[in-house]
Formats: sequence, C-alpha cells, structure tokens
Amino acid sequence: MQRRTFLGGMAVAGLAGPWLQAWSAEAMASPSLPLGLPLLASELLPAGGTLRELTKLANTSNQPGTFQGKLTAAPVTLPFIPGHASTEFWAYNGSLPGPLIELFEGDTVEITFVNQLKQPSTIHWHGLPVPPEQDGNPLDPVPPGGSRIYRFNLPEGSAGTYWYHPHPHQHTAEQAFRGLAGPLVVRSRKDPLTALPERLLVISDLKLDRYAAIAPNDENDWMNGREGQFALVNAQRQPVLPFDFGGRERWRIWNACSARYLKLTLPGSTLTLVGTDGGLLEAAQAGLTEYLLAPAQRVELIVDAGSRRDKVELTANVYPRGKMGNVAPDQIMPLLTVDFTAVTTKVQAALPAHLGSVDDLGQTSTHKQVVFSESMSMVNGRHSMLFLINDQEYDMQRIDLVSRLNEVELWEIVNRTDMDHPLHVHGTQFQVVEREFEGVVTPAPFRAWQDTVNLRANEIVRIKTVQRWPGLRMFHCHILEHEAMGMMGQLKVV
Ligand code: C2O
Ligand code: CU
Repeated sequence: MQRRTFLGGMAVAGLAGPWLQAWSAEAMASPSLPLGLPLLASELLPAGGTLRELTKLANTSNQPGTFQGKLTAAPVTLPFIPGHASTEFWAYNGSLPGPLIELFEGDTVEITFVNQLKQPSTIHWHGLPVPPEQDGNPLDPVPPGGSRIYRFNLPEGSAGTYWYHPHPHQHTAEQAFRGLAGPLVVRSRKDPLTALPERLLVISDLKLDRYAAIAPNDENDWMNGREGQFALVNAQRQPVLPFDFGGRERWRIWNACSARYLKLTLPGSTLTLVGTDGGLLEAAQAGLTEYLLAPAQRVELIVDAGSRRDKVELTANVYPRGKMGNVAPDQIMPLLTVDFTAVTTKVQAALPAHLGSVDDLGQTSTHKQVVFSESMSMVNGRHSMLFLINDQEYDMQRIDLVSRLNEVELWEIVNRTDMDHPLHVHGTQFQVVEREFEGVVTPAPFRAWQDTVNLRANEIVRIKTVQRWPGLRMFHCHILEHEAMGMMGQLKVV
C-alpha cells in the first residue's frame, strides 16, 4: 500500500520508455487537446433507443463452406453528439462496433484487410485457433495504405464467441479506443441452444472531450487503463432491449473495453452461465447473481424472464480493481434497460443437460511461470510506472518462453502487483485449473474454454494450455494501456 500513498501525492507525472512512445503517438494524433480537460457530460449522448442489431459483414463467396469478406480500417466522421461537432472515429467499414463476422465450424475464411489509417495496423483474431502468421500480431504489420489477406480454416469444436481488433506495435490501444474492434461468432451445426432467440451485446468504452472529440489518454489512463464516461452497448448509450415474448433469451456479451471491468448484474433476476470465450460449458451453471467479465472476455448467459414483466437495468457494478493515483471513485454503470413487459410465457423447460465438450486437456509435463510485476523507475529525474512480465518489458526481438507443439503445459501466472490484470494468450483456448489467494487454493468449479483470465492483486492462477502451430505467439495483459507499456511477452512454439 506504500505505492498507493506515494502515487496519491504526486499523481505520476513522469514518462519514460514505451510509455513515452505510446504517449507521443497518442499526442500526435490529437495535438489540440491538452490533458486533463473536462469531458463531455454523458447525458448529451441520447439514451433509451431500441437496441440495434449488429451490422453483418457480407460473405462475398458463393462457395459453400467458404467465407470471404473485406474489412477496411479508416477514419469515419459521425454526427454522434447532437448539437456538437461530428466525432472522428476509426472504424472497420465505417461501422461501430466493427461488423459482425458470422462463421461456421469447418469454414474456410479469407478476409481482405485494407489499412486506410495513417499508422501501421493488423487484424488480430482474438481467441481463434489460427496459424501465427495469420493472427495479425505485431510482427506482421500492414503499412498505411497497404492491404493483405488473412486466411484460415475453422476446426470442428471451435464454436464460440470471439472478436477482432488491431494489434500493431505501440498503436493497439489507440486504434481500439478510436473504434477499431468487432465481434466474431463461430457457430456449430450441433449447437443445442439454437432454438433460443440470441442477443449479441458488444460493450465498448468511449471517452469524449467536451467538444465531442475522442479524448487522448491521460496519465491515469496510461497507468490504470482507459475508462471513458461511456460504456456503450452496440455503440448505443443505455439502449432498451425488448425481451422476447417467449420469456428466455441467450445473450452473448463481449467486453471490448480497453480496461473497464464489467461486473454484470440484472437486479431481481439470476443469470445462467452457459459459455465462456471459447464456447459452451459442459453443463449450465444457474443461479448467478453477478458475473465478472474482465476486459477482452466474452460470456454466454441464459436470461429467463420468470414471472417478471417490468423493466430493469443491466448494470456493471463497482468492482475495485486496485486503481492507482488520484482517480474518481467508481460508480455503478447502467448498460441497458431490459424491457420484460411484452413477455407472455414463463419458461418451464430445463436447458439441455449437456451443452458442449470441454475435455480435460490432460496430463501436463512442463511447467512455466508468468509473473506480473510493476516497478517505479526514475528517468530524467521523473518517476515512471513500469508494468512487467517476468521482470521485463516487451521486446519484439526477444523470445520469452519456448513451448513444444501439442505439448500440454501447466502455466502458473502470478500477479505480484496491487492491481487486477487480465492475461490473454494468443492462438489457443486454455483451461483454468485452480486459483490461489493468500495461501488458499481453490480448484476451478468446472472446466471452461478461455483465452483470457483475470488475476486479482496478489493472486496466482494455474492453467493448462497447449499450442497447435509452430511460430511466435504473444501473451499479455489485455488492459490495452498496460500492453502498450510493456506488459507483453513472446512465446515461441517449436
Ligand atoms: Cu485481444 Cu493480443 O489481443
Ligand atoms: Cu494490466
């Protein structure tokens, strides 16, 4: 806690190393905006519209089992705040969020990416099992004005809830917070829940300055991760979701925020967990009063109206994640209003007893340790915060870990900081085995496919993980500002 006292007094003004680089890229993008100016009042963005369906990316192939599409990343200017100047976003195909890519297991996928930004970019297929050279990692940038085709096949068993976003060196955080991120769903032809109406809810963060322009990151954003005054659902502020008259819905929810933790609650209703990042659980977990969705995670929930016929807000409740410095206290964030008034039925039917398969990845022969730490450094007489993995900042030239192809490994992830960090590993879906906190080990209550796992301050999480392609993979904190500041490593699969 010494750290917090120390930071509290000085609000960390120093900049150094990757922080400085990320910061200056940022500053150049919005030269007219000094830091620390008041933000736009959130009420100025109209709320209460009916929830929009997501725009879909068109499949231009007429071959069965093939998806071909095109994503162009470019600035787009939208009249976003009534009575204010238009807001420049950076978007895929002009769409906020990026268009929904809907695929099936077994599909051959070919997506042409056109970069019309003034920075290098990539498309990273977050969570999808794709070869390293197709995964849009920082080593394969597409230059401004350039293009490339990403090609991959989706294996059986890959049905799940994924997303895509840029991953260029040093520009990921900015490109994401300016609007570049979109949902992707892989469907199974044997999905046991297809009879249910499905909602796709992409939650993203937005921070607008008082002129309705996207605000640059300030010191607190770089340190704690960026949180704006808005948590939008499908790019709308607090929309209304007219609940299906049949009384039961399947919700897929994406946390596409840079750093905001979503402790989801629907007061008066419980939630039933049926799926995580990489697809369905084996059995539904009913009766949850809340669900914590860390940055980059996705979840599938079944929501039952039961006998309620009212309107209620889905909220993100306060989740203390150990923010540093002089930050405003967190508040409950209403996300959307669920309108149950048109429901006519009370669903009695139980969910199918068996949902998906999450076979134990099996015996582990190799152990690895990944340690999150932070340190304060003095550069040019100023203090700077560093976020490290295994005591080092990200270096594109360095291999941090080496794994053997198809060998199941036990990774022990240790959070030696006073803040939560969500770890994401590229190219695979792993299984959490257990958590350890203050000496108490708690086995995972059930198996689930995940590509992102949250670690509380001083928590240890053990996972089973395996890589199916040779090549280079990233692993990093998915608070995008922490990733930008060095909390990322490279795994070489041989
Ligand atoms: Cu969603 Cu390496 O990222
Ligand atoms: Cu972090």
